[in-house]
Amino acid sequence: MIDCEGLVKIYKTDDLEVVALQGLNLKVEDGELMAIIGNSGSGKSTLLNTLGGLDRPSAGQVKVGPWDLLKISEEELVQYKRETVGFIWQNNARNLLPYLTALENVEMPMMLSGKTDRDYAKQLLDWVGLKERMHNKLHQLSGGEQQRVAIAISLSNRPKLLLADEPTGSVDTATSDLIMGIFRRLNREIGITIVIVTHDMTLASKVDRVVAIRDGLTSTEFIKRNPNITDGTELEHSTGKGLNNVHEAYVVVDRVGRLQIPKEYLASLGIKDKASMEFDGEKIIISSPKSLGGNSHE
Ligand SMILES: Nc1ncnc2c1ncn2[C@@H]1O[C@H](COP(=O)(O)OP(=O)(O)OP(=O)(O)O)[C@@H](O)[C@H]1O
Ligand SMILES: [Mg+2]
Repeated sequence: MIDCEGLVKIYKTDDLEVVALQGLNLKVEDGELMAIIGNSGSGKSTLLNTLGGLDRPSAGQVKVGPWDLLKISEEELVQYKRETVGFIWQNNARNLLPYLTALENVEMPMMLSGKTDRDYAKQLLDWVGLKERMHNKLHQLSGGEQQRVAIAISLSNRPKLLLADEPTGSVDTATSDLIMGIFRRLNREIGITIVIVTHDMTLASKVDRVVAIRDGLTSTEFIKRNPNITDGTELEHSTGKGLNNVHEAYVVVDRVGRLQIPKEYLASLGIKDKASMEFDGEKIIISSPKSLGGNSHE
């Protein structure tokens, strides 16, 4: 579904260039439900906006299904955004029309692409648990309910890929669980591929695969040890919110053998731009540069 290789995104302002993604690699299979985590400023939203066709990539390869987002024309991009991807933001207020009903809000994007289907709009609102509230105006619904309307809207044009940037960032735990349940069900029942950016480790620990981004690069992948357990029961028996309870962590190594070593590790060993590396047949050992005498040389 998604294939990014060496993806670069540079934001240029008058006097400043920010390299938000610096050669990022990411593959997502068709039908996957996965999460992306990372510190603030690591490039998560930039990645999602690029995948969603809201930001243009600067260089590298970005393919979503049959679309090549580096080469796509403006006209094709409109079609791509309308038909292939659905997008959910943390705060969807700007995309909702407060004086229309929930149902009318879901029908709006369908109308814009000339394919109104009231039955499907109703079905979507039923899926997100708002069957009883579909004729209420948006401003009569709570924040969590509005977020669920936003999920229904994002699905109105039957996208193959759903991108959600901090979808549970402004709702309580119960609503967050509810939203995760909706994602899981959509993924299972209609096979839609879902990528969720989140700070919420509880949420992240409920998906099979989590990719961590550091400084605009994928650094670590967490893969669930027992992917058959999907209802979160395993998590309830574990302590703490860390991913390591349920997931195995792997360092990402790219095609040419590059990997990211956490800055803290480098700092504690005094490694700046060179390190010693040994291979004993089983392990690769990276240590402070021996012949240079640690960090005494520039
Ligand atoms: N439109 C823009 N113009 C210039 N710089 C930008 C723009 N958008 C993002 N950046 C910069 O790109 C980097 C990555 O930002 P991004 O929004 O992708 O981070 P993030 O991982 O989503 O962070 P957060 O968790 O805080 O949402 C940051 O240094 C940010 O300042
Ligand atoms: Mg962000």
